[in-house]
Amino acid sequence: MRIVPVAGGKGGVGKSLIAANLAVALSREGKRVILADLDLGGSNLHLILGMRNLKHGIGTWLSHSRRPLEEIMVETGYSGLRFIAGDAEIAGIANLPASQKNMLIRRLAELDADFLILDLGAGTHFNVLDFFLISGRGIVATTPTPTATVNAYLFLKNAVFRLIQISLPRKSTAGEYLASLHKQKDSLRHASIPQLMANIGQVDPHSFDGLRARMQGFRPRLILNMLEDPEDAEKVNGLRRSCQQYLGIELEHLGIIYRDDIQDTALSSGLPVLVYKPRAVLSQAVARIAAKMVQLDRDGEPETWPAIDAGYREAGLEAEADFAGKIDYVQDLMNSGALSTGDLIETIRSQQIEISHLRKQNTFYKTRLVQAIQQGYTR
Ligand SMILES: Nc1ncnc2c1ncn2[C@@H]1O[C@H](COP(=O)(O)OP(=O)(O)O)[C@@H](O)[C@H]1O
Ligand SMILES: [Mg+2]
Repeated sequence: MRIVPVAGGKGGVGKSLIAANLAVALSREGKRVILADLDLGGSNLHLILGMRNLKHGIGTWLSHSRRPLEEIMVETGYSGLRFIAGDAEIAGIANLPASQKNMLIRRLAELDADFLILDLGAGTHFNVLDFFLISGRGIVATTPTPTATVNAYLFLKNAVFRLIQISLPRKSTAGEYLASLHKQKDSLRHASIPQLMANIGQVDPHSFDGLRARMQGFRPRLILNMLEDPEDAEKVNGLRRSCQQYLGIELEHLGIIYRDDIQDTALSSGLPVLVYKPRAVLSQAVARIAAKMVQLDRDGEPETWPAIDAGYREAGLEAEADFAGKIDYVQDLMNSGALSTGDLIETIRSQQIEISHLRKQNTFYKTRLVQAIQQGYTR
């Protein structure tokens, strides 16, 4: 069974939307899929699937955690897809004691399916990191905004630190070395991972071998969501470079997804967008990512950097192609009369207002910049 946690650090970047629609898409590829909502305290996956009035979820199971998880698993009505709900009533994953977390991880790993998709909550709490680290191929979702990419990076940085921590036996020389760094608070926060790895290799070569193996098996996969235009695709290049340089990990690119207002209609009609409108650019993008995951599974991973580079180039091309698709879609809507020239004029007018607003802001910032430079403020 492939376990695919979906995380991202920041809330609202589309983790749940991606998890739910990927699960549907994979089940349509003929896979047996289980989707589980681990965003305790913020569960909304059932709403994306259009399932209401669910009696039981992880919250119920936690108070009977010796029982099999299957007891709270339900059919979704989509062939091949089963669902484990979360619980909005309970306090959140941060409050989950370690023993329960470990039990939950064990039970999840025992489930029987081709894919187990885990929707995770925001933040970088140990518990979120540990669910993410169940697999070396978790998905990190981000949007092109600087806040989201920075959060994605911080999430990955925390995940790597956590991975190092759980890979080293506490009583080993390396474990003690790490604990001593922890005590000198800042030294760990500022440490670069490649440097830290080198130090661990020196103080404790034996423990280092196990750690290195786990680090090599850690290659998270990126999904860039809510693009507005093709240039947004480049916003993740810095994220990738930072991961290589400071974390010593390679971030694979699974693909891009444009922002699409159709998601709102899908949500209010209680259907995953992939079912509501399979031909929408958004649905096609998720289906493409699912197909890529199945293919990676079959053909094996790209082992070399050039192959991973190609993944980033491909994502750039997809961003171009989907943008063209969106334009065609407008054309179709006009041809069928669903979108009138009046609507377009209205859209153009409101965009003009936005542009003039942005222009004013831009001028304001430029003035500020010039002032700052004149005052010799160089940072
Ligand atoms: N590509 C997209 N196009 C339009 N709306 C989107 C897209 N991705 C996510 N959304 C919307 O953004 C909001 C946040 O998404 P959600 O999946 O709940 O994020 P998260 O789980 O990361 O907090 C939801 O209202 C969702 O419907
Ligand atoms: Mg969510």
